Amino acid sequence: MTTIDLTVQKDRRARAIQRARERKIIIPTYAQMKDPSKIPAKIKAELAKVGLWDVDPRNLFRITWRNQPVASGGTFGGVNYLELPSSLTGVPARIIALVGKWFPTGAHKVGAAFSCLVPRLVTGQFDPTTQKAVWPSTGNYCRGGAYDSALLGCESIAILPEGMSKERFEWLAKIAGETIKTPGSESNVKEIFDKCKELRTSGQDLMIFNQFDEFGNYLWHYEVTGHAMEDVLKQTMGKNSRYRGMASATGSAGTIASGDYLKQLFPDSKIVASEALQCPTLLENGFGAHRIEGIGDKHVPWIHNTKNTDMVVAIDDQAVVNLSRLFNEETGRAYLVEKGVPEAVVNQLDLLGFSGVSNVLSCIKAAKYYEMDENDIMLTVLTDSMELYRSRIHELNREFGQYTEKDAAADFARYLRGESTDNLLELRYTDRRRVHNLKYYTWVEQQDKTYDEIQRQWYEPNYWTDVQKQADEIDELIAEFNKEVGLL
Ligand SMILES: Cc1ncc(COP(=O)(O)O)c(C=O)c1O
Repeated sequence: MTTIDLTVQKDRRARAIQRARERKIIIPTYAQMKDPSKIPAKIKAELAKVGLWDVDPRNLFRITWRNQPVASGGTFGGVNYLELPSSLTGVPARIIALVGKWFPTGAHKVGAAFSCLVPRLVTGQFDPTTQKAVWPSTGNYCRGGAYDSALLGCESIAILPEGMSKERFEWLAKIAGETIKTPGSESNVKEIFDKCKELRTSGQDLMIFNQFDEFGNYLWHYEVTGHAMEDVLKQTMGKNSRYRGMASATGSAGTIASGDYLKQLFPDSKIVASEALQCPTLLENGFGAHRIEGIGDKHVPWIHNTKNTDMVVAIDDQAVVNLSRLFNEETGRAYLVEKGVPEAVVNQLDLLGFSGVSNVLSCIKAAKYYEMDENDIMLTVLTDSMELYRSRIHELNREFGQYTEKDAAADFARYLRGESTDNLLELRYTDRRRVHNLKYYTWVEQQDKTYDEIQRQWYEPNYWTDVQKQADEIDELIAEFNKEVGLL
């Protein structure tokens, strides 16, 4: 099965509708997530009394890039984004990043999780009255999944590596029915898959929503993140501007699907996939542990459209960790202002979580490699913010001592001005196929995907476009479901 299965199971669907009625659940459509002006006024009025992170079913309507950036009572405006000036990035190209902090849960993966669960719920494939939703992830996706489950009246199990930040576990303890810690760090994805296998054979009635192979993840980013990026371009492009490409880490390769959307609008644009230098799987079939939380690796996600990827860059996790200190310590911020970075930008640098810093560095590398000038625009996303990593900053202070002006000068020179085009590969046809072929060992050998499908991913022209077309069909199912629930 390539596309998202939309087969309806009547009895289970009836039970899901009953559950939604009891819990007063109304489900947003993709069209509304892309354009919240389509959300009924009644729901907007209800949101005025709801906090951004509250476990309230109305917050399903806040699964959009367009939330007003406030903690409570906000409605909708333009897409949240931050443009990083040359005084910071050191390149003349414009680097513009979508901001994930203003999603409920503080990270955009709440949308990807929604897009995996909702098609199963509105078709009746997932029965919230008997089944648990299992969310294997490297961090934010399982937080998003646990949160969406709570809002949609479903029980959940979150799975993530034990080495992830303390903030994630503390929050999950309050939201998820159960949290399972798997051995190792960030890039130990195989251990997560092993745990899923164990659960599958445990006799419990569960459904596993694996972000690494769920096309709902791909579709949400293609459709919702892609359109949000298009809107940002409409807002920011001048007469001479050129959109040159987007860069994204490929944790589950969901976010990078927005590049597929933009490439259809701008066929000359580039898609840059990034990963940690300490775990250079895409670059050189490598492996290792790293500290860029959320971006996994040691395998190629099943939903990564590698045929459309133009470049791979690997980012040193030391650069990410040190720049996070530069961006968040008072001494670091004062140094940046002294170097001419506008204070208004400096004060917002906590919008960049670790993978956000890594994404911006990926844009800088691509901008340098392609010799971009001030008319060129690179896009990326800030999946989450520093709010999820405060404990890491304290740990670094304990380990290395207080952050000094000398540290700031060194980090600025080495990791911003000094960011080079090392550890970068522009992909030829055969390089893309080499990355695609790596999927075989994880997915066909170990995870029950078929030889036929891995071939179709590469050779069948409609494989990816068929998924891209599914949002309208799912929206019709959601609308029908809401109608039968009867709350609108
Ligand atoms: C903090 C963080 N950054 C980046 C990513 C990667 O995004 P994607 O999984 O869409 O490739 C994730 C994924 O969960 C994440 O949690």
